[in-house]
Amino acid sequence: AKADPLKIMISGAPASGKGTQCELITKKYGLVHIAAGDLLRAEIASGSENGKRAKEYMEKGQLVPNEIVVMMVKERLLLPDSQENGWLLDGYPRSLLQATALKEFGFQPDLFILLEVRVLVAAGMLCYLVASHYLVNEEILVERVVGRRLDPVTGKIYHLKYSPPETEEIAARLTQRFDDTEEKACFELICEVAVANSSSKCGGRTFNVNGNVPKEDVFAQIDGALTKLLEDRKLI
Ligand code: AP5
Repeated sequence: AKADPLKIMISGAPASGKGTQCELITKKYGLVHIAAGDLLRAEIASGSENGKRAKEYMEKGQLVPNEIVVMMVKERLLLPDSQENGWLLDGYPRSLLQATALKEFGFQPDLFILLEVRVLVAAGMLCYLVASHYLVNEEILVERVVGRRLDPVTGKIYHLKYSPPETEEIAARLTQRFDDTEEKACFELICEVAVANSSSKCGGRTFNVNGNVPKEDVFAQIDGALTKLLEDRKLI
């Protein structure tokens, strides 16, 4: 076990690249990756009542009710592997209530990473969020969702255009997530605002990352912030 393991949260709009970055972060920093979406998909696969309820919301791209999500995440964070090696919480919190609920249970991140996918191009392609002054390019996120593929053997995330499979053998076995539809990809932008606002309620520092660059460049930004965090700790 590590002396003082890192505790990191990563949030962003659907398909902003959270899962992709989590793969790279866990590979380098050895944290336990806990994805709210993966926990929910496992609950669905188990056939439980909570899973059945969750599926109804996920198919529509809506948030699953807090009474299901909060306890599920809390219980996973309490397992020994997360406590001993540190954790990387992905896709949680997605609302102020979720942020404060976890804080009340004593879980506070060292760093809150917010992945932003926003560009300034032709007005027709953009959704302007008055509330947050955010400019989010919906087309990029829709393209990412529709092109996403998963390798059921390794769990690795691919994209048909941006991150194609290395071999024909892998290509042949790739699957698509049941909720990866264009309908879902037209996500609720309000969710991104809520996430941005909730980061301050989690405690710890917030680090805004430009997610609209190649995945290696996104990781370079995150890696820099995590390295600095660890260096700052040594100085204390
Ligand atoms: P969840 O599983 O968390 O899905 P999501 O938020 O929709 O996020 P994704 O997993 O779709 O995307 P990602 O950001 O991980 O992107 P990825 O790396 O795969 O949640 C699913 C559902 O569960 C929610 O809709 C909700 O119903 C429910 N839920 C989850 N958490 C909840 C909570 N806390 N409360 C209530 N309900 C909750 O990348 C996407 C694609 O883009 C990939 O193909 C990838 O290869 C590609 N890509 C990644 N980075 C780049 C890049 N830099 N450039 C080009 N392509 C890239």
